[in-house]
Amino acid sequence: MKCRAFVLATAALCLGFGDGVREQSLRDAAQRSGMLIGTAVRPARLSEAAYASTLAREFNMLEPEDVLKWEVVHPEQQSFDFSQGDQIIDFAARHGMKVRGHTLVWHQQNPKWLTEGKYTSGELAQILEKHIKTVVGHYRGKIFAWDVVNEAFDELQLGKLRSTIWRDQPGIGLAGDGTSYIERCFRWAHEADPQALLFYNEAGAEVVNPKSDAIYAMVRDFRQRGIPIDGVGFQMHIENLRADVASISANIKRFTALGVQVHITEMDVALPVDPSGNPRPEDLQRQADIYREVATACLSHRGCTAIQTWGFTDKYSWIGSHSKQTQGAALPFDRNYGAKPAYAALRDAMATGRR
Ligand code: XIL
Repeated sequence: MKCRAFVLATAALCLGFGDGVREQSLRDAAQRSGMLIGTAVRPARLSEAAYASTLAREFNMLEPEDVLKWEVVHPEQQSFDFSQGDQIIDFAARHGMKVRGHTLVWHQQNPKWLTEGKYTSGELAQILEKHIKTVVGHYRGKIFAWDVVNEAFDELQLGKLRSTIWRDQPGIGLAGDGTSYIERCFRWAHEADPQALLFYNEAGAEVVNPKSDAIYAMVRDFRQRGIPIDGVGFQMHIENLRADVASISANIKRFTALGVQVHITEMDVALPVDPSGNPRPEDLQRQADIYREVATACLSHRGCTAIQTWGFTDKYSWIGSHSKQTQGAALPFDRNYGAKPAYAALRDAMATGRR
């Protein structure tokens, strides 16, 4: 779209710049609406000029996609490797962006020394406490919000806690005690950085369903008992071009009513692609509608404060390998960093702001 200041509808999307005008970025639009717009980042790509410039221009927040997961940051029991995480922090600092941390407690992407180590519950509790306090402590004052626990609820037995190394295999010693192990993790994170906002992050709990009901009960209980939880992250990986936005909105409403923030943490909208990775043109518009509707739902609740996409260019997205290359094209920019209809939709929703 060309930016013409004399067209009224378009003028709202333009910023004056001397004699000329330039189009408002997604970041500008979000900033004006008081929103955080973020994306997942792979530090190895920061040396690619188009990657770095798009990232800095369009987003005011970022999150390491993989490099703060255990297998990268804690490769040996006695050693931590913050080098890649630190690159992201440096980039964010240079460009005035906030950083979300992901993730301290998860059942995936854990190192072999941990998963094959045959530790007792007592030993695991010590290992986990040390991990949380070391990682959160390293980034104290630099990472403003953490996904403390990720995907603790089961995929198939909806509403039940997942069986994991941290809960009951053998767990950190609280296996018979419901969400107590999660509570313990939040307390440890809070001790390491009392200023950081602490989030519970989940997949498949975007709508009102048995999984989000169980998370709702946990968060309500934590809030009532003063456990330090500040927010809930809904991942928002959307498949089959299906999003029940009314239910997403109702869900955001009930969570924010508990006094916690909601962040949309990992949004992408996967499209079927041909063997060359190309989507059908008509699907791009439907994809844009979903981005717009989800962003508008978030903006309609004051406590929904951030929208983040899981990567920003179709050149680098987990959807391809995750779907054996049958799905892709899930992000707002194409493989050449060209803005897709989804980008304009997201920016329009941000520019419209809260209603
Ligand atoms: C994905 C990353 O995008 C991939 O690079 C990695 O190979 C696997 O993990 N839910 C999460 C994210 O919380 O951490 C996952 O990220 C996607 C699903």
